[in-house]
Amino acid sequence: MHKFKSCILSMCSKISSQSGRIKHIIYGIFVFIDDLNRVKNMKLEQILKDNKAEGNEKHLPVIEIGKDHGKNEIDVVRVFVGKEVPHPNTIEHHIAWIELYGVKQDEQVIDLGRVEFAPAFTNPNVRFQVPVTEFKAFCALSYCNVHGLWQNCMEL
Ligand SMILES: [Fe+2]
Repeated sequence: MHKFKSCILSMCSKISSQSGRIKHIIYGIFVFIDDLNRVKNMKLEQILKDNKAEGNEKHLPVIEIGKDHGKNEIDVVRVFVGKEVPHPNTIEHHIAWIELYGVKQDEQVIDLGRVEFAPAFTNPNVRFQVPVTEFKAFCALSYCNVHGLWQNCMEL
């Protein structure tokens, strides 16, 4: 691709003596193709944000293991956003959903559930009834419709 691009740009410089406009258009096409390649090679971890990206508004999905862990055979994993500072909850700006994943001892990842919230009515605070001892870690995702995708994990 690079050789092809150089060759075309070299041809363009010859053409440019006749028409600078053609060179400008072809150069614009290459910039567009480069942008497409950048998006095509993007990885999920490039869009996931963690505690290093937190500002005044809090987005990290906080994970807490329920008090019943090990008792009454009811284990609860609570996931919520905005422990100290509540996140805005309006139609224009809200946490749209939370997902919880469990990592088993053999590294298998289990999708434990997803909850979607009604903006302005439902706070991003959810409990999953999960057999906690079967997992070595939990990871949660939260999605803010303005500030994107946030991740947090907790090892047991
Ligand atoms: Fe936000």
